[in-house]
Amino acid sequence: MSPFLLTRTLPEDATDTALRTDVQRGLTGTPKTLPPKWFYDARGSELFEQITELPEYYPTRAEREILITRAAEIAAATGARTLVELGSGSSEKTRHLLDALTGLDTYVPVDVSDSALTQAGQALVAERPGLRVHALIADFTAGLSLPDTPGPRLIAFLGGTIGNLLPAERAAFHAAVRSLLSPGDALLLGTDLVKDEKVLVRAYDDAAGVTAAFNKNVLAVVNRELGADFDPGAFDHVALWDSGNEWIEMRLRSRTAQTVKIHALDLAVDFAEDEELRTEISAKFRQEGVRAELAAAGLDLTHWWTDREGRFALSLSVAR
Ligand SMILES: C[S@@+](CC[C@H](N)C(=O)[O-])C[C@H]1O[C@@H](n2cnc3c(N)ncnc32)[C@H](O)[C@@H]1O
Repeated sequence: MSPFLLTRTLPEDATDTALRTDVQRGLTGTPKTLPPKWFYDARGSELFEQITELPEYYPTRAEREILITRAAEIAAATGARTLVELGSGSSEKTRHLLDALTGLDTYVPVDVSDSALTQAGQALVAERPGLRVHALIADFTAGLSLPDTPGPRLIAFLGGTIGNLLPAERAAFHAAVRSLLSPGDALLLGTDLVKDEKVLVRAYDDAAGVTAAFNKNVLAVVNRELGADFDPGAFDHVALWDSGNEWIEMRLRSRTAQTVKIHALDLAVDFAEDEELRTEISAKFRQEGVRAELAAAGLDLTHWWTDREGRFALSLSVAR
């Protein structure tokens, strides 16, 4: 079996420190917010995998369709010997890329979810003798550094996860990605596209309630990690389309006036009845916006592929 390396680039207590900072800041601000990366403990990663199979959640199927159709072109255009994947999760769709990248030496999946990385990495090395897998437990928004592996390097960021970042965060993210690439290296970016509001809202508010459970999982994470006493049943899942910003917001709406205690922070947080806590934005894109954001970071868009129904796009851009 080929080697599987799992490296934690964050100090052991970094997650704890970052969670404390985010919860303190997010729950004492107006409006209340929490960053979406805290959904993804083992249960959150499992719930996300269930979301990808829901009839309402088209992005995974649409992106897989593009990957199946275009993987050979991506391989020919990049000649990648190292594939880095940010927010890789289960690496399920990535298999189509791995099949096509015949000269690949090393796959570097990067994720905050320890459980998702370990499961995916171990399965991949068992399936693919000869492929080196160097998994990184790391936060892709916090000064990522990559192992020294052979170029050309291709960074993949799939699933539309880029939409979870606010515009200023996206600009910082693209600049950080560019700094990890040499001229001629490439970025493969998955972006969900602006479309009919009903289709979008349904994708984040499914009939079976899986997305609601995923949304409320962040409360379970804060309860467990910071000794909080959130009652997930006292909040409703909300998904709405913000047409001005062209993004979906997921929120948790307090059913009643209540006070939540967060013991590790010695903090009591008051929620008014119907007050909402924003847990995720998921921005939707248009080609010209993506092209301009990438260009501002020194990345030139060379390919733009969509699924047959035009719901989702994969773009390839090259570092100047
Ligand atoms: C929407 S899921 C997409 C998963 C997979 N790429 C796909 O397309 O199905 C987002 C993934 O990014 C990871 N993630 C979220 N925020 C992160 C961060 N700041 N740093 C590293 N990984 C993060 C999550 O753990 C999760 O696996």
